[in-house]
Amino acid sequence: MTNVTKNDKTIKIKAPIVEALKQAYENPTYQFHIPGHTKGNGTLPEFKKLIGAKALTVDTTDEFDNLGTLHPATGPIKEAQELAAKAFGAKKTFFLLNGSTAGNLAIAMSLTKKGQKIITNRNCHRSVLTGMIISGAEPLWLIPNRFLEWGIWGNVTPESVEQMLKTHDDVSMVWITNPTYEGVVSDIKSISIICKKYKVPLIVDEAHACLWNFNSHLPTPALQLGADAVVHSLHKTGGSMSQSSMLHIAENSLIDVDAVEKALKLLHTTSPSLMLLGSLDAARANLESPRGKKQLERAIANAKFLRREIDKMEHIHHLKPDFGYKTDITKVFIRADGLSGKRLESILEIDFNIEVESASDAGLLILSNLGNTRADMQYLVKCLQIIDKSHYTDICHLENKKHMPMLTPIIKMSLRDAFYSPKETIPKSQAIGRISAEVIAECPPGIAVLLPGELITKDHMPYLVDYDFIEVITK
Ligand SMILES: Cc1ncc(COP(=O)(O)O)c(C=O)c1O
Repeated sequence: MTNVTKNDKTIKIKAPIVEALKQAYENPTYQFHIPGHTKGNGTLPEFKKLIGAKALTVDTTDEFDNLGTLHPATGPIKEAQELAAKAFGAKKTFFLLNGSTAGNLAIAMSLTKKGQKIITNRNCHRSVLTGMIISGAEPLWLIPNRFLEWGIWGNVTPESVEQMLKTHDDVSMVWITNPTYEGVVSDIKSISIICKKYKVPLIVDEAHACLWNFNSHLPTPALQLGADAVVHSLHKTGGSMSQSSMLHIAENSLIDVDAVEKALKLLHTTSPSLMLLGSLDAARANLESPRGKKQLERAIANAKFLRREIDKMEHIHHLKPDFGYKTDITKVFIRADGLSGKRLESILEIDFNIEVESASDAGLLILSNLGNTRADMQYLVKCLQIIDKSHYTDICHLENKKHMPMLTPIIKMSLRDAFYSPKETIPKSQAIGRISAEVIAECPPGIAVLLPGELITKDHMPYLVDYDFIEVITK
């Protein structure tokens, strides 16, 4: 139980896993079980010193110390998942280790079968692609708007979804990434109405949007707009530890929850980290607390401040909501005249010791996070002001390298058939005209350059500069 004070009233915010870990820490046992480092004694002392003895003491797995189990969910883990479901407005929430990737794989495995079709956006994350390879379902690609000036993918239109549903039978689900990595929002409400009309479930990959439920100035979360299931990478923006995420099933969803749970059991480790699970519990409790709400207000205010200051600059610009689409204000995508995104990133890193979320061809992405202070933002603004007035030159174009794949695929074979076909590895110089046998989707952003079954053309070459060899289907 976390005590927080609001208007002189003490509010109790429950965090059952955190509480159980605390109990276990305060009541140590003689430990003859995994993990074998036994409270950090069996590891490198430098490592123990670096991360802290306390962290290693609470590094345990389920089954022990009355901490409950993940599969099936019991004890404090079950209770924490129920509290999360309530906080996010879901019928059921599953805690995920191995990130939203695990949630996406479970969705594909439990909702689709070999040969069925999935309508999805081409800029989906590679975990969606892996899900399709596992289940054997085939993608019907939606090509979102391209924001060419910014070198990024934009929103998916409801019309394009309806057009696909009209022309294809055997569609098992519509699977939309929302928002995009750079924060561009699609009209999920309209897409959901269309999906209901065609009686097809709508899954929204909201990996980057777990905060939307906690502040009305952010876009409306898909669970409130009719989506059947949603993944959230709490570790990306919600304050939990790396790798921890959630999968939510909507209140009125007809999705078979048991099937999803069975798939998750197959995919998950049998030794879940209580630290990661506890961090999900803690992140949810923090977001629900007045303190967390304030942190989110500050993140939004910081983003507004950054955007206002960029508006005063001559050569630096930020992606603003425009006619036809919205953006998540906390994701600030910027570009500078005459500099590529990668060059701007390296200037910030080398000259100013600033690391941003990601950079691509035209711009870079700054996240205004829960943990950032106004002083952090002021420093960033000061550095951008210096860059705006300096005469940095670009050198990245000399590499002739591209980072944000925005090509329309030419599909020659089904994804799964290609993945399981005989393959060979050939020098890249001989790859044009051959059929790819591998997933090439570098992270970030994890968007596909090439998938198994797709024709390799000369347009792919700038995205493959770092590859000497490519895996192709044997002729
Ligand atoms: C849109 C999208 N979905 C899913 C994922 C996978 O998330 P995780 O890293 O939590 O496995 C990512 C990761 O970047 C992503 O960008």
